[in-house]
Amino acid sequence: MSLETTVREAFKEHFGGDPTLIVSAPGRVNLIGEHTDYNDGFVMPMAIDRAVWIALRPRSDAYMLVYSLDYGGHAEMSLTEMTHRHSEWAEYMKGVAWAMQEAGYALHGWEGVVTGDVPRGAGLSSSAAIELATARALAHLSGIEWNPAKMALICQKAENQWVGVNSGIMDQMISAAGEAGSALLIDCRTLETTPAPLPAGLAVVILDTMTRRGLVDSKYNERRAECERAAAHFGVKALRDVTLEQLEAAKAQLEPVVYRRARHVITENARTLDALDAMRAGDVPRLGALLNASHESLRDDFEVTHAEDKPDALDMMVQCARAHSGCIGARMTGGGFGGCAVAVVRAEAVESFTQQVSADYENKTGLAPALYVTTPQAGARIVYQE
Ligand code: GLA
Repeated sequence: MSLETTVREAFKEHFGGDPTLIVSAPGRVNLIGEHTDYNDGFVMPMAIDRAVWIALRPRSDAYMLVYSLDYGGHAEMSLTEMTHRHSEWAEYMKGVAWAMQEAGYALHGWEGVVTGDVPRGAGLSSSAAIELATARALAHLSGIEWNPAKMALICQKAENQWVGVNSGIMDQMISAAGEAGSALLIDCRTLETTPAPLPAGLAVVILDTMTRRGLVDSKYNERRAECERAAAHFGVKALRDVTLEQLEAAKAQLEPVVYRRARHVITENARTLDALDAMRAGDVPRLGALLNASHESLRDDFEVTHAEDKPDALDMMVQCARAHSGCIGARMTGGGFGGCAVAVVRAEAVESFTQQVSADYENKTGLAPALYVTTPQAGARIVYQE
């Protein structure tokens, strides 16, 4: 059964009658440009065919009444008295309602059912997906024009200030603005997007190590703070504004760890822009080399490839992927500290790739991984309206 049917049927069961609106918003995988978004840099994610779905109907009062199929729980949220008191999934929705009201929008109440198939804690942005699905629903019901970049910023504010995770703009931006058939190069300073289509004959495979983030948020914030220290040293707003030459010239004055963090960000921005050129030129070996170099930089300079529970799982997954002859390049993806890797693979080799890599990884780590072949999807959308 498709998730559209599941969510429609569940709506009937829980609320009686038919939903008047069904929305969905995707998770994402990032091809290259990691830990650059909060440095005003460049990222190249694509929206994936795993998403959050909401089936709903407006209410005449100022409440959101939501049933989560995945958590088996109800939340009754007032749009007029916003307080933190629900389980985690509901706080994402409430945070979006809060941030939209902070932005000056008057919101309409609704009741609905939410479900999804973006794995949680895997680095595929299940939280951005729930935020953007909520925003899409609220905007439609409340007569608010859908502007993807504006809504992405509102959802990022919900995540930063309501949920309390200090993430950058990438995840919300791609879940809002994704394009079918193409990854997007996003300039995280201007929020300008440029389609980045994969050269013909290549496929994207997500490789879930099945390790989950531990104390990530504190480590993520620690990395951000190190980047901010580096930018402050140069007296600029963000590391986007520092060149490699400037960094090398200042090496002796910087703490070694801050120097290495900055070197990752500066070289990763360059690799991301180079990757767009390589894709446009159909230069597949160059693209692969850039993906591989991104992983090495995240491992050695940024130090985010080790998971708490199984320190070498992510590096091992990348090694297993690269060992297959059909693999063009492979790297960790998302925030790191466990979660997923991504590989670009020759399309005709995908089946043998997934079989070999699954078996190899399981042999080496004792963990059964999950591998998904995915294609670029559109961002948050209205699937059905009465
Ligand atoms: C997480 C954050 C993003 C981004 C990535 C790393 O996914 O939510 O904003 O910083 O980590 O690239």
